[in-house]
Amino acid sequence: MNTSVASTPVDQPRHVERLITGQPTSDGAGVKLVRVLTQDLQQRLDPFLMLDNFASDDPKDYGAGFPDHPHRGFETVTYMIAGRMRHKDSAGHEGLLQNGGVQWMTAGRGLVHSEMPEQEAGVMEGFQLWLNLPGRDKLCTPWYRDIQSEEIPEIATPEGVTVRIISGESQGGDGAVKGAMQRPASDYPTDPLYLDLHLPGGGATFSQRLPATHNAFIYVYRGTVEVVNAQGAGSAVPLHRMAILDNEGDGVMLRAAGTAPARALLIAGKPLREPIAQYGPFVMNTRQELMQAVEDFQAGRFV
Ligand code: CO
Repeated sequence: MNTSVASTPVDQPRHVERLITGQPTSDGAGVKLVRVLTQDLQQRLDPFLMLDNFASDDPKDYGAGFPDHPHRGFETVTYMIAGRMRHKDSAGHEGLLQNGGVQWMTAGRGLVHSEMPEQEAGVMEGFQLWLNLPGRDKLCTPWYRDIQSEEIPEIATPEGVTVRIISGESQGGDGAVKGAMQRPASDYPTDPLYLDLHLPGGGATFSQRLPATHNAFIYVYRGTVEVVNAQGAGSAVPLHRMAILDNEGDGVMLRAAGTAPARALLIAGKPLREPIAQYGPFVMNTRQELMQAVEDFQAGRFV
């Protein structure tokens, strides 16, 4: 799908509140990655709990993968830019996540899964976002869906921007998740927007309306992106930086800096405003619920 739809005008674009440099770390069995959204930003970027960026052409950095590990209380959204990763979980789901595809997994009351590379060479690049669930849905039935690259709606604006709509709505089109998803949890009170934007060089602007209530950020993974103000001036967000956007105005305007093309994720959601209690892969509302999660996991009560 590739339709041409004019950008929705924005009168009062948001500004950059803060630029964030991710923390290099490793997770799973030693996969090197950059943790862009860290625990100290969970309140500010509620309902998002974490964003990891993995990108390497050295199999030593990713080959060990993410063997069996549990999750409870939230959702993981994995977006592969390049590479192949096989997912298996204790609820009996299995799927291959590859170039341009997304896996949306609702951990709910708990499951154990593995995410293992299916390549011994080449580039492995992608993102994992953690999206919180409201307290009433934290113990819902685990669920997951693999979304192949060709199932992700892709829109070309007249300005030449390509918009891949993973979740939410943009330029009049629904995302892969908003349109087709049937998960056990009641609904999406967090109204998540997840866009992958490919911005050509030369000043083409992309506009996205955003409710002021929604917390929003961009993460640049190619080139340099500018957050454009109402006067047309740009504030640069360099490669591999996250820009937290302020909650003023009615949307955001972005463009690639200069003549080189750029790519960025634009992610936004309505905050849950609930207490966040995290212990590793468990995210609940209270310490008591975390202790219960550990006890249930140790007793083998995750699916
Ligand atoms: Co996991």
